[in-house]
Amino acid sequence: MPQVVIFMGSASDEAVVAPCAEILKKLNISYAFTVTSAHRTPERTEALVSKFEAEGCQVFICAAGMAAHLAGAVAARTAKPVIGIPVAASALGGMDALLSTVQMPPGFPVATVALDKAGARNAAWLAAQMLALNEPALARRIADERRMMQAAVEKAARDIEEKYGA
Ligand code: RP5
Repeated sequence: MPQVVIFMGSASDEAVVAPCAEILKKLNISYAFTVTSAHRTPERTEALVSKFEAEGCQVFICAAGMAAHLAGAVAARTAKPVIGIPVAASALGGMDALLSTVQMPPGFPVATVALDKAGARNAAWLAAQMLALNEPALARRIADERRMMQAAVEKAARDIEEKYGA
């Protein structure tokens, strides 16, 4: 049963959202990943939220572009945490999706991450940190990953310092 569910508004969002699924997989978090649209398939969206919530989903991640209402539509139907990934899919460069996702009315928050792939990655990390509140083994995996990121920065610093004689 998926602990995390990723919805995206269109298959055209796949390349942007895929890194989210990859990070959840790396962290051994069970997830489902599918397409549903707030506007094109509102009944499907509602039915999927009910189904996955009944199956034990703890966090919903929703990615959408343009007038991005998917995360808000999901937040309207569940009290589980909802993370929104705004996707740059129009001539407005993602500002439309960012504002549509982040500007939720009080009582129905969407934890909005950065645009596009950076946001997709952080949506996975944020969902993992939420689950880790009750899962010490996952908290340790996150700590291990952070130590690896730290080591990578330190190596990059050494390489640059050597190259430029700092
Ligand atoms: C949104 O509209 C989707 O999330 C996508 O980012 C954008 C364009 O969708 P398509 O016309 O490519 O299906 O609902």
